[in-house]
Amino acid sequence: MQQIDWGKLGFEFTPTRSNIRFHYADGKWSEGVLTGDYNINISVAANVLHYGQAIFEGMKAFRGKDGKVRVFRPDANGRRLNSSARQLVMPEFPVDKFVEAVRTVVRDNIDYVPPYGTGGSLYIRPVMFGTSPQIGVNASMEYELVIMVMPVGAYYKGGIKPVDAMISVDYDRAAPHGTGHIKAAGNYAASLLSSKKAKEQHFPIVLFLDPKTHKYIDEFGTSNFLAITKDGKYVTSKSDSILPSVTNDSLLTVAADLGMTVERRPVPVEELADFAEVAACGTAVVITPVGKIVWGEKVFDYGWTEIGPTLKKLYDEMTGIQYGERPDKHNWLVEC
Ligand code: PLP
Ligand code: COI
Repeated sequence: MQQIDWGKLGFEFTPTRSNIRFHYADGKWSEGVLTGDYNINISVAANVLHYGQAIFEGMKAFRGKDGKVRVFRPDANGRRLNSSARQLVMPEFPVDKFVEAVRTVVRDNIDYVPPYGTGGSLYIRPVMFGTSPQIGVNASMEYELVIMVMPVGAYYKGGIKPVDAMISVDYDRAAPHGTGHIKAAGNYAASLLSSKKAKEQHFPIVLFLDPKTHKYIDEFGTSNFLAITKDGKYVTSKSDSILPSVTNDSLLTVAADLGMTVERRPVPVEELADFAEVAACGTAVVITPVGKIVWGEKVFDYGWTEIGPTLKKLYDEMTGIQYGERPDKHNWLVEC
């Protein structure tokens, strides 16, 4: 095991033993190479630097109660990477090869997977980008896919303590018929100004509305939106401009397994006044409860100082599956 203060981990870049790299040229992907190098050598004219062909993914590996290390749904991330690739005219990467590459790089960094009981995990970050030097606006001819890993703890300070959110009224992160539904690096660049302004006012998280009408809730800059109604239903946004979250998809299944009614539908902003519990969900944030949401002059205050009871039940079930404490009845975990 590495000498790391596992309990103090936040969500920061940490180099580990290796990352795995694949190069695409002449219409095919190379074999993967493990390297300890964290730098890349590309032309200043590389497509990614000018025209932004860059997509990424995020998933986690967990050290279970039995000591074994397992990745949560890497096949789902492999499929989503390909959906992002298609939209940005980038080459797809075979899903089975992707899952094998993830297992390989996790195994090579197994001593960086936080011990069971520390609440940490190994974050897996694949990134694909166009490397061909070119100045005409065209899809790159060559690409690099790098999968790096790093030990992480909670994304927002305080673990699963509620965070306050601000609705972005001045900026959208996505466009109608744009790239909001894929994991394009540019979506995050587009969210940075709202995020900066919100943080200056002590709101760690930004909630975006649908870019066409601004009447419905889309998602947070880092995660999907979910709410629990006063009668215990799980509600989440349906929109063409949000990322299909693997965590949200899994939670919808877990909620249904727990006997809850689940609804994926457009959520009008005004409905924020009616919910009992609200949260952000995603790989990095897991389930992060939201204490209050500010929308211009209006404040929706849920009054929680701790995670609410329904969100807690979902959190315990989900993390219980991920750490091998509860049955993985949907076969989501892949052993490394
Ligand atoms: N929405 C956005 C904008 C994200 O960046 C993420 C994180 O990946 C999510 C949603 C959650 O997706 P997932 O649960 O697959 O991590
Ligand atoms: C993830 O949850 O994996 C993400 O990619 C979110 C990121 C913006 C931190």
